[in-house]
Amino acid sequence: MIVIGGSTSEVLAKQIADELGCRYIQAGTKKFPDGEVYTRVDSEDFNDDVIIVQNTYPDDKLVEMFLLQDIVAGLKAKKVTLVIPYFGYARQDRLFNPGEPASAILMCKLLDSLACDHVITIDIHKEAVLDAFKCKHTDLKAAPVIADFFKDKGIDLVLSPDIGAANRAKDVGDRMGKPYDHLNKTRLSGTEVKIAPAHMDCRDKNILIVDDMISTGGTIMTAAQALRDAGAKSVSVACTHGVFVNNAIDKLTHSALDKVLCCNTLESSQSDISVAALVADAIRKG
Ligand code: R5P
Repeated sequence: MIVIGGSTSEVLAKQIADELGCRYIQAGTKKFPDGEVYTRVDSEDFNDDVIIVQNTYPDDKLVEMFLLQDIVAGLKAKKVTLVIPYFGYARQDRLFNPGEPASAILMCKLLDSLACDHVITIDIHKEAVLDAFKCKHTDLKAAPVIADFFKDKGIDLVLSPDIGAANRAKDVGDRMGKPYDHLNKTRLSGTEVKIAPAHMDCRDKNILIVDDMISTGGTIMTAAQALRDAGAKSVSVACTHGVFVNNAIDKLTHSALDKVLCCNTLESSQSDISVAALVADAIRKG
């Protein structure tokens, strides 16, 4: 078995190879002067199972994934597993308005048209889009590693930002042996909105909010401020994907939040929670 790390996922890919005790190759990627992507895997023919670890975000990294799939087919990979820690375009998972693309489904079809026998994602926005792959697909949940990371950190209550994500808070809370709840948004007037846990009191509690992703950070910062205003002792957040657009890390570290952590599906200064063991386990299971 050979793990190939694409340019988005060097740290995670190496960790996965270490977990599996197998050979690791870092793909060499650069840009042509016109901005087009060039990538190379410096190896003899594989004649072995190959795992490519690479995000399909942003756009040039998606192209790099296509190129890596073509390369491993040319180098006689046996079984090809794509580990896509953060799956780009996942949020446009259907036509919200006529004339739009179902981008997530299109991306699955494009990836599936190249070398690909098993796809592994982590907390993809809508798991059902993976059914567009004809090959085997597995969406892993980061809840076990998030719960493990926070289990000794004095958390009293686990919250999700809304009812739609309540199962994630339950999963993390149950694993930590802590109560869980979801936040409710109640409109008090034309200008006033109240955000508070639906059932639990947050006063004097150390709170952990769990979410699938932080993009601008707006959702989490608003929730954290409301909880602090309501008397929470501390508010931390853990998400699977730290996308952190528009200087979000800086804004979050100067907000009402005490800790901002994410998994290493996207590598950043906050990505201290590793999903490597989860991914290696899924690869072992085939
Ligand atoms: C929503 O579906 C997601 O779970 C996140 O809450 C949302 O994408 C976060 O976005 P932002 O950080 O821009 O508020």
